[in-house]
Amino acid sequence: MNTSIDSQFLARLARITREKGLDTTPGPVKDAPDPELPGHPTYHHRQRINAALTKFERVAPPRYLTATTQHPTVCDWADRVAADVTQAPSLMLWGGTGTGKTHAAFGAVRRIALTGPTRFGFLATTFPDLYAALRPGRGNDDERERLMRRVLTVPVLLLDDLGTTKSSSWTEETTYRIVNHRYNRMLPVIITSNEPPAALPALLGDRIASRLIEMTTRVEMTGADQRLNR
Ligand SMILES: Nc1ncnc2c1ncn2[C@@H]1O[C@H](COP(=O)(O)OP(=O)(O)OP(=O)(O)O)[C@@H](O)[C@H]1O
Ligand SMILES: [Mg+2]
Repeated sequence: MNTSIDSQFLARLARITREKGLDTTPGPVKDAPDPELPGHPTYHHRQRINAALTKFERVAPPRYLTATTQHPTVCDWADRVAADVTQAPSLMLWGGTGTGKTHAAFGAVRRIALTGPTRFGFLATTFPDLYAALRPGRGNDDERERLMRRVLTVPVLLLDDLGTTKSSSWTEETTYRIVNHRYNRMLPVIITSNEPPAALPALLGDRIASRLIEMTTRVEMTGADQRLNR
């Protein structure tokens, strides 16, 4: 291309851009990642929150779907789990009927989900329901084995209402398997109970109680029965 054709071409180009009202001011191109699109950390963080909340909502019963907790120790515990699920202690919430143990437990897990953790898995059940589902002779062996595997390995496990079942050598052995497995691998469990920690040895036997005492941060929930104050 010679110089005169070159300048004709540029003049034509200038005319067309002028006619089309295009902005040809030189300057930085706006190509920063958009928080609404993949590639931006905010987008991926939001995706992780949504995925974790979906898992939480699949597990939480309707009454506790929007549970929150303001208890400082419970919030600190949830933040430690959110930061690193492999390094956090377990949590035991104990106290009288209706003091908000189950609410705080689900609230703590919801708080973890809302941080958008990279790895989130959650299973919640009560001790009586768990024993009923695992008891030999009920359902089929594969289902029971699958449930046990999940109880042993899920990143966050909530076991509600410790001490509400009459103990037997089978319940003790089952509880020992769960507690010992999660104790060894330092996987967090949230346990709620009406019983104080001092009652654990008599309730569960020394070996389970000793592990629970070492592995848990214990929080006493106090106050009146909130069900009666409505
Ligand atoms: N922080 C809170 N904010 C709003 N509602 C709450 C809060 N804490 C507890 N509640 C409500 O109070 C009631 C009793 O709470 P919850 O079921 O957690 O008690 P609990 O200590 O687990 O009782 P129990 O020992 O009988 O299992 C529930 O309806 C729960 O949703
Ligand atoms: Mg409860």
